[in-house]
Amino acid sequence: MLALLLVTSHVQSVSAGDRELGQYLSSECVTCHQITGKAIEGVPPIVGWPEDQFEAVMKSYKEKERDNPVMQNIAGRLKAEDIAALATYFRELR
Ligand code: HEC
Repeated sequence: MLALLLVTSHVQSVSAGDRELGQYLSSECVTCHQITGKAIEGVPPIVGWPEDQFEAVMKSYKEKERDNPVMQNIAGRLKAEDIAALATYFRELR
């Protein structure tokens, strides 16, 4: 139970992403992902996702659990607070 509480509070603090940092970092992402949230060939939309899901997916690329070399490389360079910032920015774009 204590472990669960610790995990929950950790996720919440990480989720409070810095929107401005997210906007800054997003310039790289939107060369592939459409800012309008439209899917284009082979590139899924990333706008309007719940932050916890967005962060979980980015972590799974970072830890190479999800198999995509491009995203593994990109996520591998991002810190936890960068990912949280991106999650906040892209969620609010919807
Ligand atoms: C060079 C093109 C490219 C760039 C730049 C890029 N992505 Fe991606 N991204 C992709 C592709 C292609 C996929 C689909 C990969 C797969 O099938 O797993 C993807 C998948 C994702 C997914 C999972 C989407 C889903 O529906 O499962 C997320 C989240 C994501 N990218 C976020 C980002 C973020 C955040 C950035 C910027 C830091 C970024 N991407 C930069 C090409 C790119």
